[in-house]
Amino acid sequence: MSIKVIRCENYAEMSRAAASIVAKVMIEKKNAVLGLATGSTPVGMYGELAEMNRIGVLDFSDVTTVNLDEYYPISPDNDQSYRYFMNENLFDHVNIDKSRTYVPDGTAADPDDACRRYEEILDSVGQVDIQVLGIGQNGHIGFNEPAESLEVLTHVTGLTASTIKANARFFASEADVPTKALTMGMGTILRAKKIIIMANGAAKRDAVAVMLKGGLTTSCPASLLNLHPDVTLICDPAALGE
Ligand code: F6R
Repeated sequence: MSIKVIRCENYAEMSRAAASIVAKVMIEKKNAVLGLATGSTPVGMYGELAEMNRIGVLDFSDVTTVNLDEYYPISPDNDQSYRYFMNENLFDHVNIDKSRTYVPDGTAADPDDACRRYEEILDSVGQVDIQVLGIGQNGHIGFNEPAESLEVLTHVTGLTASTIKANARFFASEADVPTKALTMGMGTILRAKKIIIMANGAAKRDAVAVMLKGGLTTSCPASLLNLHPDVTLICDPAALGE
């Protein structure tokens, strides 16, 4: 039950490999529930999925999506919000019913309550058929940052200095990066039927190595994926340390 590895030559090949796994799930189940991630890694995969939809081989009309996380506080029309990212990179390009696309609510007055409501939404849409993940340089998944103990359910979290620094590239300056986020917890993520985790570039090498070692450590939250029976890593040679 160890993590399967699909080693791709480059990012374009990774994007196609990930898209074809997601597409297979969607073709087998028209009303699939997709768990989605943001960040730079899955952008190419979303492009591939949108293209498959454009040429008529993939139908999103009955699909439901649930995203891993959202900054807090942030409004959906802020171009750095994860809701905005999803519209830009996928939802605006496919025949999806946006009322069935869920992202944690970065505008909620009470963020703890927003997390409880997100868990209710997740319960109501049913088991995620395939969860797409990226991995942080520090081994985070979603915004489950390395810590002495990890959270089970969707929760409010502070971003670590390392994550703020890594994400500063998307903002005008490091000071503009929100310091909090709402994120699915480790238990929420591990409830998915199937998980793919994508990693490219040498910056992900150390985190990938800890995960592939097969043990569990809260200092690399991605290592907890070793508890799940169906996880596939899709990566380039640099992420494998080659
Ligand atoms: C995004 C998310 C994060 C990213 C990770 C990698 O929704 O949950 O865990 O997957 O930070 O980000 P990139 O792909 O930008 O290297």
